[in-house]
Amino acid sequence: MIVGILGCGAIANIITNFASEGKLGVEIKYFYDRDMERAENLASQVDGRVVLDLKDMLSHVDLVIEAASPKAVEEMVPIILKEGKDVIVMSVGGLLNPKIRLNLEKLAKKNNCKIYAPSGAIVGLDGIKAASLGKIQRVTLVTRKPPRSLGITTEKETILYQGKATEAVKKFPLNINVAATVSMAAGQEIEVKIIADPQVDRNMHELEVVGDFGEFHTMTSNLRCSMNPKTSVMAAYSAIKLLNSLNENLLIGT
Ligand SMILES: NC(=O)c1ccc[n+]([C@@H]2O[C@H](COP(=O)([O-])OP(=O)(O)OC[C@H]3O[C@@H](n4cnc5c(N)ncnc54)[C@H](O)[C@@H]3O)[C@@H](O)[C@H]2O)c1
Repeated sequence: MIVGILGCGAIANIITNFASEGKLGVEIKYFYDRDMERAENLASQVDGRVVLDLKDMLSHVDLVIEAASPKAVEEMVPIILKEGKDVIVMSVGGLLNPKIRLNLEKLAKKNNCKIYAPSGAIVGLDGIKAASLGKIQRVTLVTRKPPRSLGITTEKETILYQGKATEAVKKFPLNINVAATVSMAAGQEIEVKIIADPQVDRNMHELEVVGDFGEFHTMTSNLRCSMNPKTSVMAAYSAIKLLNSLNENLLIGT
């Protein structure tokens, strides 16, 4: 399977490192970024090719990893799907707008391709998806990050947001992928709290789900990417695991 990358930042860097160490079950070959130097840097690690326009890679790849921005989901993922290529969306916040999501689903269906949204920086999605078969009474997500990861400076713990995921995504589009993923997995609106906490040095997500299955509680405490502290290493790992699973015959816990 030949794969292209749209957006050559922190997540793409980790994925490409895996590829360069021979730890990826697919071939990462094409790179596109509006910052060409970034694309060139990654391409050089795996003898890949840089394209000047996303469209230039589409006839050569089976799948594109979007690791750019929510805006790219809206503007560029349709181009990928129209070419009949599968796509892994990392900027999951971009899918929370129902108009955008439905349009992408329609395009994927029409062109017989798939949109994958990996679990990203949170654990417990397997449980939420199963729980959503019954009635879910409550899903709450508390995201706690160092202020710098939220793009602010503060000396004391500060609640930046408390409310619905769909509203949070408008205010923190680059920090709310986890809320978007949980909300879509649950198939319903969820309650979100975002806290800037100078006492922590990890990106932390505490999830509580109560439904007619019972209840569960998870805590994910993520190391941050050195290239982009907003992003957790686990997010890149989840994309790599998903990529590798595309070639596996036994799928556990999906
Ligand atoms: N699903 C999750 O749990 C999760 C976790 C972390 C990050 N993310 C999301 O994944 C995406 C990538 O994260 P990252 O940390 O690698 O980001 P990053 O900022 O390190 O890299 C993004 C790269 O994409 C490029 N880019 C942005 N918009 C573009 C466009 N329209 N066309 C071409 N290139 C474009 C930028 O130049 C940059 O090099 C972000 O949207 C981020 O919010 C998701």
